[in-house]
Amino acid sequence: MNNSPQRYTITAALPYTNGPIHIGHLAGVYVPADIYARFLRMQGNDVAFVCGSDEHGVPITIKAKKEGVTPQEIVDRYDGIIKQSFKDFGVSFDNYSRTSSEVHHKTASEFFKKMYENGKFIEETTKQLYDEEAGQFLADRFVTGTCPKCGNDEAYGDQCESCGTSLNATDLINPKSAITGAVPTLKETRHWFLPLDQYEGFLKEWILEGHKKDWKSNVYGQVKSWIDDGLRARAVTRDLDWGIPVPVEGADGKVLYVWFDAPIGYISSTKEWAEREGKDWEPYWKDENTKLIHFIGKDNIVFHCIIFPVMLKAHGDYILPQNVPANEFLNLEGKKLSTSKNWAVWLHEYLEDFPGQQDVLRYVLTANAPEAKDNDFTWKDFQARNNNELVAIFGNFINRVVVLTNKYYNGIVPEPNEYSDVDKETIAELKAYPAVIASSIEKYRFREAQGELMNLARLGNKYLADEEPWKLIKTDEERVKTIMYVALQIASALATLSEPFLPFTSEKLKGMLKFTDKESNLNEGENSQWDKITTREALLPAGHQIGKAELLFSKIEDSQIQEQLDKLEATKTANAAEKNNVEPQKETATFDDFTKMDLRVGKIIEAQKMPKTKKLMVLKVDTGLDTRTVVSGIAEHFKAEDIIGKKVTVLVNLAPRKLRGVESEGMILMTENAEGKLVFVNPDEDGVESGTTIN
Ligand code: 2FM
Ligand code: ZN
Repeated sequence: MNNSPQRYTITAALPYTNGPIHIGHLAGVYVPADIYARFLRMQGNDVAFVCGSDEHGVPITIKAKKEGVTPQEIVDRYDGIIKQSFKDFGVSFDNYSRTSSEVHHKTASEFFKKMYENGKFIEETTKQLYDEEAGQFLADRFVTGTCPKCGNDEAYGDQCESCGTSLNATDLINPKSAITGAVPTLKETRHWFLPLDQYEGFLKEWILEGHKKDWKSNVYGQVKSWIDDGLRARAVTRDLDWGIPVPVEGADGKVLYVWFDAPIGYISSTKEWAEREGKDWEPYWKDENTKLIHFIGKDNIVFHCIIFPVMLKAHGDYILPQNVPANEFLNLEGKKLSTSKNWAVWLHEYLEDFPGQQDVLRYVLTANAPEAKDNDFTWKDFQARNNNELVAIFGNFINRVVVLTNKYYNGIVPEPNEYSDVDKETIAELKAYPAVIASSIEKYRFREAQGELMNLARLGNKYLADEEPWKLIKTDEERVKTIMYVALQIASALATLSEPFLPFTSEKLKGMLKFTDKESNLNEGENSQWDKITTREALLPAGHQIGKAELLFSKIEDSQIQEQLDKLEATKTANAAEKNNVEPQKETATFDDFTKMDLRVGKIIEAQKMPKTKKLMVLKVDTGLDTRTVVSGIAEHFKAEDIIGKKVTVLVNLAPRKLRGVESEGMILMTENAEGKLVFVNPDEDGVESGTTIN
């Protein structure tokens, strides 16, 4: 374990402010970053954990265009929602900033200017993709096309999300404007390029030789393959009106490329925090002893491992990241999470359906974290992990300890007697956990670390189940004191060790045990509460008064899970409806709803157009029950004489209603063919397509 305080700057990818946050964001970036930051703080380190909204960039402009509002309106809407979600889920940023802030515009401009003045860019007029119809250059997400590397035909102008390759828009095969769908032309424009090729030697030495062992293999492998493929100069300016103006003469109408300004947002956010806290921001970015760690998803690797480090190096004043522990992607029920397709579990919606259960989601996302490969979130797994692990192991153990301590000793920690061999082994195992968990966290193996935390709860649960104090209390009160004393030490260790993973649970548990960090000072050689689990004889001394039991976790019922699955099913059909251009499915009808409708075959025996109306026809229909009048809006589509004798489907128990003074006692089911002409329901009729509604 760590013995002297170390300065850390921890960054978490700035989320685009074009939608709320979903479980993929949380699992890939924010929960691991938060576990790490909380752990380091608990170890007494000096930590700046920063993030903020990424408010420039094309996704925001596209959303604004779609809704007919300004980009500013879009970012103002989502910045608040995102910030609230982070707070609700206990993501403990020291600062959450915005790239539209003044401090960021100033920081990014100055960064660019210094590089410009030192001749770090290449200025060049080149032909770029242009949308004649929209009157705009097309870069980044304004243009899609086929990736020249992997053939994915939905690659963007700056990156293929399928193979991760970073692209220039002109690399795309068959490019298409995302604004108008038009095929772009080429038009000349002047831009500033970062000559990445000149930094190949630096990158090879720094990453390929310097970080072969300590960087995750998924990150190292990607970086190596890009460097091996050869790097090319990349434009860091754009012809757009949303962004940070390029701060040099003659650059009107040009802004910084979003991936140039966004990572500088980490620096701006640190400045904002330092200003507020009365600290100096510079050591967090300039002192060689500071450890800079970037938490990101795999689609951001190229920007954080190649482009931003080259910017930092070229600028000259900054340290380089010590590690970039990028995660792979999380899928949802087997399909890629997608903001635009609404294929997601939105954090604000989760909280409405599972109020107060933030830690359950944090737990499941960490247990299933896509650390080494893409992983799948399923609602069934969510339920199983909650019910079988959090409730049945962790919650059950704590509940037994607290309830029994209150029952037998009025909540006062008993004085132990001599330890049995089992007690000694249990205590020795307990004391090993802090180092084991710490070591996994230090290696960015958060699912392994959390697994060990659950193993500690298992140890406690098994200890109580084997020792059975509730039986022994009748025969050996002295032995029970020792058992409860040992169990209480495990409970208090869980309160401390769960803090990085389950911060709300940890707080609640500390409250139940009346176990506060304040109350016990550190001895020499102890850095933290974490250390004390190992170094001290006991965390909760005999005589300490604990509080009453409260439930830490509660069972999640099948019906709650079904509701979530139904929600996803509705999204699936809505997406399919949109894709196929048919009306979305209506709300679920129960079998009872269906059987309520009395549908019969009827025969039209008379038909007459209703005078003075265009659409209505008065029909007499033989329903087998009776002959009744049905008024139907079909007069524009049929001649009366053509339909007499036709067999039709009639809803006979529809409440009667009067149309132009004539009472209609049922409804004939109709649908539309491809030309929009009404036809009687006969799905086999020519031109009636799948998905056409019947009404
Ligand atoms: O991929 C994204 O969502 C980007 N907005 C991440 C930016 S990270 C950074 F560098 F700011
Ligand atoms: Zn590709």
